[in-house]
Amino acid sequence: MIRILQFGASGQLAREMLDRQDETVQVLPLSRAEVDLTDADAIARAIETAEGIDLVLNAAAYTAVDKAESEPELAFAVNARAPEAMATACAARGLPLIHISTDMVFDGEKAGPYLETDAPNPLHVYGRSKLAGEEAVLAHCPRALVARVSWLFSAYGQNFLQAMLRLADSQPVLKVVADQRARPTASGDVAAFLLSQARRLAAAPAGAADWGLLHLVNEGEASRYDMAKAIFAHAWKDRPPPVIEPVPTSAFPTPAKRALNAVLDSGRMKAVFGLQLRPWDEALEDVLDQMAQAKVSV
Ligand SMILES: NC(=O)c1ccc[n+]([C@@H]2O[C@H](COP(=O)([O-])OP(=O)(O)OC[C@H]3O[C@@H](n4cnc5c(N)ncnc54)[C@H](OP(=O)(O)O)[C@@H]3O)[C@@H](O)[C@H]2O)c1
Repeated sequence: MIRILQFGASGQLAREMLDRQDETVQVLPLSRAEVDLTDADAIARAIETAEGIDLVLNAAAYTAVDKAESEPELAFAVNARAPEAMATACAARGLPLIHISTDMVFDGEKAGPYLETDAPNPLHVYGRSKLAGEEAVLAHCPRALVARVSWLFSAYGQNFLQAMLRLADSQPVLKVVADQRARPTASGDVAAFLLSQARRLAAAPAGAADWGLLHLVNEGEASRYDMAKAIFAHAWKDRPPPVIEPVPTSAFPTPAKRALNAVLDSGRMKAVFGLQLRPWDEALEDVLDQMAQAKVSV
């Protein structure tokens, strides 16, 4: 049995990890009430005193991208100083650390998909705080995997999928941004990958190819507009879908400027782990089915 100490209990990824643990991998979650990530000493204590753990996962973060513009101190405390404290404590105990990051470390100016070796250049406070977290983790823990994910969706929490379905209940026409592109990624697929690799990661020595930056995203790419169309094509089979109108990013000014190209290349994952996540639209259909079933059973 591999045991993962997980920071975060209620977020999208955290809940998928908890749902998918099995008799081979156990997830031990720490909620905000147990360890607040603004308290570096509490983070260190939690790692120092946890018994019988093989891995640490940071599934928590300050994820309010626009609000971060007016709360930079809090964003950096949670996204940069907290992972640094985790990395330092993990290194002291010889534990591996998996830390989750984002495509938002890039500025979107590249013509093609971003590689792990491409230079980051975040456009906003959230991106800079996540980049600082990545750098701190890699600098302080020799057995650290920093997995960048994109446009997470799941049946849990607040995400684009949930927002579209909610809006469509009251609005016949939805204006959706069509000029930002990424690899939408199912939180459940990220969790399944991490759980499937837990045993391997728990045993991998410092210096192994497993460690470092990894782009962990579903295959295929899409705009928000493509995603919206796919959502209603699957979820609203029995009723007329809303009209979905493509609009440019400039139609929805936001405090934090969004990159137009957020597509992450996933070749390193295939090379190192011999695995790829499935196409995003397949994963999306599964999540929509899961949500429909949950509604029926309520
Ligand atoms: N969502 C996306 O589209 C997306 C895209 C790219 C990368 N990511 C990255 O993926 C990871 C997982 O994201 P997610 O969507 O699962 O996040 P999420 O649903 O927003 O959940 C974030 C979690 O962090 C916890 N948290 C926030 N501040 C905390 C604090 N001060 N102390 C303790 N816990 C705190 C929250 O706890 P409470 O529930 O108590 O607030 C929540 O459980 C993050 O690293 C994020 O940066 C996400």
